[in-house]
Amino acid sequence: MRDVPIGIITVSDRASRGEYVDRGGPAVEKWLREALSPPWRAVARVVPDEIPAIRGVLEELCDREECALVITTGGTGPAPRDVTPEATELSCARMLPGFGELMRAVSLESVPTAILSRQTAGIRGRTLVINLPGNPSAIADCLRAVFPAVPYAIELIGGPQLRTDPAVIEAFRPRSASG
Ligand code: MTE
Repeated sequence: MRDVPIGIITVSDRASRGEYVDRGGPAVEKWLREALSPPWRAVARVVPDEIPAIRGVLEELCDREECALVITTGGTGPAPRDVTPEATELSCARMLPGFGELMRAVSLESVPTAILSRQTAGIRGRTLVINLPGNPSAIADCLRAVFPAVPYAIELIGGPQLRTDPAVIEAFRPRSASG
C-alpha cells in the first residue's frame, strides 16, 4: 500500500532564516507518529510569514504532493506578520470553521490568550488543511480535540483512508456512514 503523504508547514520568519530551531514542525510530526497507524509519511516545509510563500508551499503540498492532510503551525495570531489564516483562505475553496472554534474552545481551558489565535481549517481539492498556533504546547491540545473527526473529513472530500491508533485517538465515523 502507498504511503499517505501528510504535509507539515512551519510558518515562522525566524525559523525560515535559521535564527531559531523549528520546534513546531517536529512537535506536529511526533504527535502524528503516535496517533496515526502506518503507512504514511511526513512532507515537512518551513516558510516565512508571507502570504505568497505560505500559499506556494501549501498549494505544492496539496496539488503536487497530493497530501491527504496539511497541518500548518504558526502565524495565526493578531500581529501584523501573522497571515497564515489569510493564506489558507486564499488557497482553499471551502472553509471548515468548526475546527478553529473547537481548537480555541479547548485551548481556552489552559490559556486565556487562546482567544488571540485566528486558526482555521479548509479544503483544497482532496486535501484537508488545518492551522495550529506556533507554540508546541498548543499542538497536542488542538490536535487531540479535532483529530477524531479528521479521518472521516478526509474520506468525505475523496481522500485516502487514515487509520489512528485507538489507544491514542479514537477516530469517529457516524453509524450512518456506509462501509
Ligand atoms: N493555544 C494553545 N492551546 N496554547 C497556547 O499556548 N497560544 C496563544 C494562541 N493559542 C496558545 C494557543 C497565543 S499567545 C497566540 S498569540 C495565538 O495562539 C497565536 O499564535 P501563533 O501566532 O503562534 O499562531
